Amino acid sequence: MRKITLINGDGIGPEIAQAVLKIIKASGLEIDWDIQTAGSDVIEKEGTPLPKRVIDSIRKNKVALKAPVTTPIGKGFRSVNVQLRKELDLFANLRPCKNLPNVDTRFKDVDIVVVRENTEDLYSGIEKQVDEDTAESIKIITRKASMRICKFAFDYALKNNRKEVCVVTKANIMKLSDGLFLDCYREVAKNYPELSTREILVDNLCMQLVQDPTKFDVLVLPNLYGDIVSDLTAGLVGGLGVARGANIGVECAVFEPVHGSAPDIKGLNKANPTALLLSAVEMLKYIDEVDIAQKIENALFKTFAQNKKTFDLGGNLSTTEFTDAIISNLV
Ligand code: NAI
Repeated sequence: MRKITLINGDGIGPEIAQAVLKIIKASGLEIDWDIQTAGSDVIEKEGTPLPKRVIDSIRKNKVALKAPVTTPIGKGFRSVNVQLRKELDLFANLRPCKNLPNVDTRFKDVDIVVVRENTEDLYSGIEKQVDEDTAESIKIITRKASMRICKFAFDYALKNNRKEVCVVTKANIMKLSDGLFLDCYREVAKNYPELSTREILVDNLCMQLVQDPTKFDVLVLPNLYGDIVSDLTAGLVGGLGVARGANIGVECAVFEPVHGSAPDIKGLNKANPTALLLSAVEMLKYIDEVDIAQKIENALFKTFAQNKKTFDLGGNLSTTEFTDAIISNLV
């Protein structure tokens, strides 16, 4: 039986994790979950929100499903998410954004996959106070990281029957750094003649995304643009409650929703498990359980088509009622 690490999270984490486990079990797939606690709940006992046992478990099992964890403010702890990405070298951040039936949005037929470089750019943390009135942040772009993220985007596109990979930069201004990213994209693209290519500047992309997002397929971006654009595309398809995500490296992958631990609705049986469920769907595809992934996604879409929704999307179902509705749609 396949063993997978489950980070239960805190806040609404355990509620939505339980919902997702129930749905996966009902789909007929047996998984041996290696359940690991992390986040603010373990700090008192273990002195850190991300104990070494969690990292060891992911290294051993290679794949993890992660519910959201709270980052304590002002206590000197690094975000669990940032730490996980660094420790496990999860270089690709993947965010598929697709319309759901009966989830009101401005546009129909949005189906965009954002592939964001996760390790460098302005997020390298190299900053200095030059003098009292001047601060400096360094943008690092390397050939190695750019080649591997572009290759990842093209491979993903091929494996998932997409048609086009579009690179997003500001290479007209940052001629060296974004220029290098663009060069790497062009070099990698030569190996994928079956896929269309497109180059666009990030400002133009943003304008076009809010005018007609159906024109885009797979986007590959350096870290900062990827961070911003992936929130924009999540907003196009219904926002936090439905936005799935994954952080993927060479050895390991961690699948998680975009949203946080929502402490305001903790324990109220109101949380929407959709984003974690869709992250689990991506995880199942990643471990080649494509049929089960499709079966679960179909059941979820059917549930939305029946206009069964949780409170955040204007519905009236509790977490458990919504979960049971999805299970009854599994065929
Ligand atoms: P949040 O995403 O937890 O909540 C923002 C708003 O969206 C709240 O009103 C919440 O009730 C609602 N919401 C979020 N997810 C929902 C869901 N599944 N169903 C229904 N409503 C939902 O963002 P916030 O409040 O800024 O952060 C809370 C904590 O989560 C912070 O400690 C933050 O650091 C952490 N966080 C963790 C992340 C992770 O583990 N990947 C990602 C983002 C934030």
